[in-house]
Amino acid sequence: MKVSGRVRPPGDKSISHRVLMLAGLARGRSELRGLLTGADVKSTAGVLRRLGVGASAIRPGGVVTVTGGRLHRPTATLDCGNSGTTSRLILGVLAGRRLAARLTGDASLRRRPMRRVTEPLRLMGAHIVEESADGALPLRTAGGRLRAIEYASPVASAQVKSALLLAGLTGEVAVTLREPFQSRDHSERLFVHLGLDLHRRDGAIEFRPTEVRIRPFALDVPGDASSAAFLVAAAILAEGGALTIENVNVNPTRTGFLVVLERMGAQVERVNLGEAGGEPVADLIVRPASLRGTAVGAAEIPALVDEVPILAVLASRAAGETVFRDVGELRVKESNRLELIAANLRAVGVTCEVHGNDLHVAGGDRPPRGRVDTARDHRLTMAFAVLGTVPGAEVRLSERRSVAISYPAFFTDLLRIGRGTRHRD
Ligand code: S3P
Repeated sequence: MKVSGRVRPPGDKSISHRVLMLAGLARGRSELRGLLTGADVKSTAGVLRRLGVGASAIRPGGVVTVTGGRLHRPTATLDCGNSGTTSRLILGVLAGRRLAARLTGDASLRRRPMRRVTEPLRLMGAHIVEESADGALPLRTAGGRLRAIEYASPVASAQVKSALLLAGLTGEVAVTLREPFQSRDHSERLFVHLGLDLHRRDGAIEFRPTEVRIRPFALDVPGDASSAAFLVAAAILAEGGALTIENVNVNPTRTGFLVVLERMGAQVERVNLGEAGGEPVADLIVRPASLRGTAVGAAEIPALVDEVPILAVLASRAAGETVFRDVGELRVKESNRLELIAANLRAVGVTCEVHGNDLHVAGGDRPPRGRVDTARDHRLTMAFAVLGTVPGAEVRLSERRSVAISYPAFFTDLLRIGRGTRHRD
């Protein structure tokens, strides 16, 4: 296919969750624009409504008004759907509020590890009761009188970091955090943007409860870099043309994939640099490129953790081998992404292996042909849909509906950029 025209990725998923929760804690009416309309963000809005927060419907192109303040004891279980971010961050919010609540999620979310969040929250004094032996959802929480914490997280996880910062905010206690490698910093940026006392000192993040009242705010959510990554990849694999992707969040803790792509031989131009809600934004101009394999090191992973599926797909079209080191975290995402990337690449004829926690992908130019099991994981679905655009490809997906989690208009946009028509909301 040839690409052309301009396209806007949906609102940033990570930021959408965070601004909804922070608006829910602000006493008064906040106005949020550009929120992701995906199912994960609707899960956060649904949970907040059950806690007594007023939130208008989340519709494409619409403004969402949130009336926050005091949270109430929910009368029913809080259903976090497929969303790890909803469940882990809301546990942080609830840790500092003394209300009894029960949390659950869909079958995928109920398999995901929660102790990485519940253990440090308990160290802070939160009461959390596990219903299953592995500490996963469902969980019961009753908050608690919290104490300050200094915590060195064993995993570079923005969800762990954010849960503890939110607990510090609602429990009005100091939180000092370290992580092995820098993960996405949206919570830190939003805290600062909203006037809270957060600083980075000697490699640690320090929140002090000198200011815990959030005033209602208005905020524009920038476009999601992780969703844009699929469009970037489609343009790189195209046979000609150029694609402009508008209003993308280019926060360096999210754009590790652009650094790797540059190393692989692609060039992505950034124009119209600006700012939205304390985040840097830009339009990206992408042209087709011939790629070469590369090695992606452990320290690079947090800034591209959600882009490994699409980078692995691109690596399968590159000259030579690509290795992603230390990507064991992918086993506990919406699916076992590590094994499924490998199994699905093999299913379409690519040589791909997992050695320990490393993923090895052999590049080539044979047309990919075969059936892909997406395991209803949105990022696997989109990554392999992009692989299906290369000449001669016959990639059959087990389902397509999972894209509704993070990019409801994905297939429409993929078709449009190949036809060169402008995206409309
Ligand atoms: C997210 C953090 C990452 C990422 C997820 C969203 C967030 O998870 O994979 O899609 O919004 O904080 P981890 O914190 O588990 O790495």
